[in-house]
Amino acid sequence: MCGIVGFSGHSDAIHPIIEGLSRLEYRGYDSAGISYQVEGELKILKKEGKLENLKKLIEEIEPSSCIGIGHTRWATHGKVNDLNAHPHANDEFSIVHNGIIENANELREHLKKENFEFKSETDSECFLNLLTLEYKKCSEVKQAILNTFKQVKGNSAFVIIHKSSHLIYAIKKSAPLVCGINENSHEVYVSSDPYALVGFTTQIFFPKDNILCVGDHTNKTHGISFYDIEGAPSKNYTVQEKQMDLNIVSKGRFDHFMHKEIYEQPSLIRHLYDKITEKENLEALYNFRGSDINFIHIIGCGTAYHAGLLIKNFLEKNNRMRVNCEFASEFRYRNPLLKRTEAGLFISQSGETADTLACQELCKDFGLKTVSIVNVEGSTLFRECDANFLIHAGVEIGVASTKAFTQQVLVGYILTCALSEKIDLEEIKQEITSLAQGVEDILSREEEIMAIAREIYQKKGFIFTGRGEQFPIALEGALKLKEIAYVHAEGYASGELKHGPIALFDENMVNIAIVTPDLYDKTISNAQEVKARKGVMVLLGEKDNKELEEISDYYFGIDFAATDQLKPLLSNVFMQLLSYHIAKLKGTDIDKPRNLAKSVTVE
Ligand code: AGP
Repeated sequence: MCGIVGFSGHSDAIHPIIEGLSRLEYRGYDSAGISYQVEGELKILKKEGKLENLKKLIEEIEPSSCIGIGHTRWATHGKVNDLNAHPHANDEFSIVHNGIIENANELREHLKKENFEFKSETDSECFLNLLTLEYKKCSEVKQAILNTFKQVKGNSAFVIIHKSSHLIYAIKKSAPLVCGINENSHEVYVSSDPYALVGFTTQIFFPKDNILCVGDHTNKTHGISFYDIEGAPSKNYTVQEKQMDLNIVSKGRFDHFMHKEIYEQPSLIRHLYDKITEKENLEALYNFRGSDINFIHIIGCGTAYHAGLLIKNFLEKNNRMRVNCEFASEFRYRNPLLKRTEAGLFISQSGETADTLACQELCKDFGLKTVSIVNVEGSTLFRECDANFLIHAGVEIGVASTKAFTQQVLVGYILTCALSEKIDLEEIKQEITSLAQGVEDILSREEEIMAIAREIYQKKGFIFTGRGEQFPIALEGALKLKEIAYVHAEGYASGELKHGPIALFDENMVNIAIVTPDLYDKTISNAQEVKARKGVMVLLGEKDNKELEEISDYYFGIDFAATDQLKPLLSNVFMQLLSYHIAKLKGTDIDKPRNLAKSVTVE
């Protein structure tokens, strides 16, 4: 889950590489580095920590070159330090790597016998040394890369430059990689995400697995050539049809991408219905309705898993389907009972989460139909599933997922309604419009949420509670808070408090309780129990409810009336803003919280 950027052209390589890396920091920020060529020599600058540290070094050294590669790291093999930071280089090559080399130990032993010394603890350095060995054998860079790539196992992308060539090489297997050209300035680029290249390129290409891309800025007709694993020219790539808008790379009037993304929700919600009910999607659904599938396994991680819990409720309620919703990291290792008459539904923003992908593969091996609800078109999950429903959330930069969650749940909801013969889709369309209005209403009351955050942000701990359809929101609220504010937070089913967690309550412990009209009496009793133990009570419930106002220390009323099954998405917007403001008061790095990365491509 690292970020890669490469550049070759007639002008400065450092600026586009650093700008690209700054857009890719969401993929990892344990360290960052660049390698560039100066008069036939490969130079390296790398630094532990965020990109800022590397930028300071660059300001001091003022490197200059027309070709280079850069990397932001999320550590897998080896500690977070300067030595393990990428790029890795020797007298011949510089390389950057995203992914895992599964046979690294074996390769390392072999290379040591060939007298190679290792400077780092990374698996990536095996690729560098193996490449150098292959190059010694064949004296041809392209062939040496292909020979090396054939010997490494696992899912990876590599970008390579040679000390005395203006060419840039890139190859991948089951890892994101794109390349691009600027037809006006004759520059070539590579990256792990097209987002890094917005504004730099005029055309973007998506190579398939095992295709070697060779960028040559001096070739004005074909800036990038593609070769298959045997070295023959190949057309095994796709071209991006639509250019990405430059606005997506800016925070606009917001201090953080997370905040901007929370505010994008009403517009995304409004546009989703038409996209999901396109003919092609509905046909896929009707085929499903006519099939003999009688059980669905919903799989995801983190926030995507919480979206799955809500979709499980929809499927049970609207379709009376039997459903299991599980963490991908649990499902894959517990030898689940899987039958061909079942389907796997995989939820993921990135479509690259290793555990989720492994579960999809497992289901596929057992002959189950696999379907995704995913944001990134062309991601591994998207490519591997039999059918895909895109959530159309646009690029999500904030590591804490906000708009993607809303869109995942909404896609799930529209699909289950469309699948049901009893539900009138026109009514659903109206409900979605009301949801967008409801979200706008909550956003317009951000000051109130900020005021609550100010009162509670220094408390010792936070327990989020909810019942039934709101229980997944309690889990999601707690996850959001702990990930960006670094405080202890837990999500609990309201009725479970008295079975243990209530022991935690005193005047320093906050209960953020969702009390909606469903099971109102039961939930309100749970809140009273906490209040009796001096817990600080933040209540989220139906608007203008005197009882809630009296019981609570802080009360936030929401008009749930027009949203029926989508009520949890309204509560969740409150949770998103509350976490955001608590984190802001605590001064954490909201978009790039410590120890995390946007897509978790390791197990
Ligand atoms: C959400 O805020 C988290 N950063 C995390 O839980 C995330 O949802 C999880 O890693 C799954 O990612 P995916 O949706 O890209 O598969």
